[in-house]
Amino acid sequence: MPTKAKRWVLALRPEGKPKVENFRLEEIELPEIGEHEILIRTEHHSVDPGMRGRLSGDSYTSALPLGQTIDSAMVGVVEQSRNEKFKPGDRVTGGFGWVTHAISNGRGVQILPPEMYHGKLRPTAAIGVLGIPGLTSYFGLLDLGRPKEGDTVLISSAAGPVGATAGQIAKMKGCKVVGIAGSKEKCDYVKGLGFDACFSYRGADLKAAIREHCPEGVDIYFDNVGAEMLDAAILNMKEHGRIVVSGQVSEYNRADNELVGIRNVTRFITHRLRMEGLVVFDYFKQFREAQAEMAQWIHDGKLTYTEDVSDGIEGSAAAFIGLFEGENLGRRLIKVS
Ligand SMILES: NC(=O)c1ccc[n+]([C@@H]2O[C@H](COP(=O)([O-])OP(=O)(O)OC[C@H]3O[C@@H](n4cnc5c(N)ncnc54)[C@H](OP(=O)(O)O)[C@@H]3O)[C@@H](O)[C@H]2O)c1
Repeated sequence: MPTKAKRWVLALRPEGKPKVENFRLEEIELPEIGEHEILIRTEHHSVDPGMRGRLSGDSYTSALPLGQTIDSAMVGVVEQSRNEKFKPGDRVTGGFGWVTHAISNGRGVQILPPEMYHGKLRPTAAIGVLGIPGLTSYFGLLDLGRPKEGDTVLISSAAGPVGATAGQIAKMKGCKVVGIAGSKEKCDYVKGLGFDACFSYRGADLKAAIREHCPEGVDIYFDNVGAEMLDAAILNMKEHGRIVVSGQVSEYNRADNELVGIRNVTRFITHRLRMEGLVVFDYFKQFREAQAEMAQWIHDGKLTYTEDVSDGIEGSAAAFIGLFEGENLGRRLIKVS
């Protein structure tokens, strides 16, 4: 029997901050599954700030065509299977976007092993702390930041899933960790995770605030925000400091001619700084190993994660837009069923 499903598609390319009108919720009928196919019912899907780029044009992947389903990760349950690798009831993860149901031939779909996902490790962690955000923290900090014991690590958007995970890993490596976030509530949250300090950027003199919290300078700046915050961090870097460019969320809604960028480039010479960006998918072959290590940290109580869950696929577009208003504390997910 065909399955009635819903999906959000790109209706209109956004200019500036996205609006609900840029998206359209459609009702569709999925056909019967064919040979080797499975039908998955979404339980949760994510909303991701980094997806903003594809809505307007080419990013590190090509622009999302108008009328196409909006990208995201999902966790769901196999409802029907004609594929020998899957059976009904399997809990799986894949990249099917903002949808209630998906049909797949199984490529790119992973079964969540129950022996790993139990107790503190909920299935939704597969699209959060053990998914793209957590892996970005892991590889960004460890491979590009290369933390040493005693280093001072500064992290922007510290209460988001990437920032919060990076900070906790940096603490495990013996670093002093300072967060920057958008409110006192968020700062209290990251201090509760073990960050040594945190300050709100709202109304702050950024250069002075970083100096106050990192008086000896910053060894690693894990940058999720870019623009003025990045410039202020550059002015506080120690010699041979490393800047990990994870994200530039404050620039995502700006047109090319409105980008703030960075000004203090001379510091790269005087302080022998290194700045490097990452695309987490480049580490794909190492994902499994990193996930196993992070899963163990979670089971051992060394790493924690927070999810910010809202109910109903009808709210996906508004929940995505809210990321640019600082609404989320932790990984923002939509509970679909
Ligand atoms: N390189 C990669 O492969 C890769 C992969 C995944 C994610 N990322 C990037 O990593 C970064 C963090 O991702 P995430 O999933 O953890 O999301 P996130 O940090 O939770 O992103 C949303 C948060 O960004 C902050 N924000 C939004 N607009 C801002 C602005 N104009 N200025 C300052 N802060 C602003 C808000 O927090 P406040 O309340 O603190 O302002 C908001 O709650 C993103 O930039 C994302 O694109 C990169």
